[in-house]
Amino acid sequence: MKKLFALVLALAMALSLVACGGGSSKPAEDKPADTPASSAAGESSGEAATPTEGGSNLAGKKVGLAMPTQSSERWINDGGNMKSQLEALGAEVVLQYGDDDVQQQVSQIEAMIAQQVDALVIAAIDSGSLTTVEQAAADAGIPIIAYDRLLMDTPNVDYYATFDNKGVGVVIGQYVKDALDLENAGDQTYTCELFMGSPDDNNALFLYNGIMEVLGEYFENGTLVVKSGRTSFQDTCILRWSQETAQQTCENYLASFYAGEHLDICLTAFDGFAYGCKAALTGAGYTAENWPIITGQDCEVMATKNIAEGWQTMSIYKDTRLLAEKCVTMVQAVLLGTEPEINDEEQYNNGVKVVPTYMCTPVAVDVNNYKEMLIDSGYYTEDQLK
Ligand code: GAL
Repeated sequence: MKKLFALVLALAMALSLVACGGGSSKPAEDKPADTPASSAAGESSGEAATPTEGGSNLAGKKVGLAMPTQSSERWINDGGNMKSQLEALGAEVVLQYGDDDVQQQVSQIEAMIAQQVDALVIAAIDSGSLTTVEQAAADAGIPIIAYDRLLMDTPNVDYYATFDNKGVGVVIGQYVKDALDLENAGDQTYTCELFMGSPDDNNALFLYNGIMEVLGEYFENGTLVVKSGRTSFQDTCILRWSQETAQQTCENYLASFYAGEHLDICLTAFDGFAYGCKAALTGAGYTAENWPIITGQDCEVMATKNIAEGWQTMSIYKDTRLLAEKCVTMVQAVLLGTEPEINDEEQYNNGVKVVPTYMCTPVAVDVNNYKEMLIDSGYYTEDQLK
């Protein structure tokens, strides 16, 4: 795996990275396309099925769903799953995507308040930038549920539905640790570069901390060698989860630090970053014979195809049907006074309060289990992965 290939690059580009630098989040290639096969709730993972028992107990209610972007397939699925589940309960749904533009998301939420929605579900673009509009919602008596990303610095959030974000990092770290048998590495070393999530998304630091909980000791003892020297969250985070920035960052790393050296691991926090690394590696001459380990998150269709073909090593399966289902129970709770399922009342302090949370469990997916996890569970059809 290691030093198999001496990279010869004609031009060593000057490293011009700005950590957490901007850039559009529009995928440059490997654009996500398809959506999960089904939005049926409750049978998607081993977790307790709850809530959205048929009927029309949300009849006459209007729910606003503010999603961050359509540039990544998962949010299209999240929005679609929640819309169909809420509509099945009789609710009217206003679904909007913010195009990764904070001001656009603020305007969309303002419009939902003006339309007198009864509840808001928000997956923020910038988790701390919505406090004013959240206060406006509270003043209008509209409860708010944070979806996947915690809403920061506000008292105006009732519940939070998410995946175990630190757990995602632990699972990624553990996967790499096991794949390379780091515990028994001896003198063997592996080169590794980190591509972490957006600094304005609370999930990103949780994930980084999870990774470091497992792999931190191997960075410290020199088994994992980061030739760029960038190991902190601040130095490796990528604003707005931009695929393009990840690709540029990887290109710059390869040119500046791996000209005569093999990069063994692209430790990335998101499938979009994995696509960016794939493009950069291909551009730098890497082939199937010396392809590095590449991690990701979300099990997008393109990522799953890449896993099947060996261009991505693993991803994290986050069943958006299940998350939507948990969120819908929270909508029911705030609108009907029912009790939603909560399994964490400690971890998610948004700076003002600890938000009662349901955390779903993330699962590692690779070439060995993707069929079982994603096709047998009905998340994708076989055709979608062709
Ligand atoms: C995060 C989420 C990830 C990934 C990322 C980019 O908030 O936890 O699963 O989707 O956003 O969209």
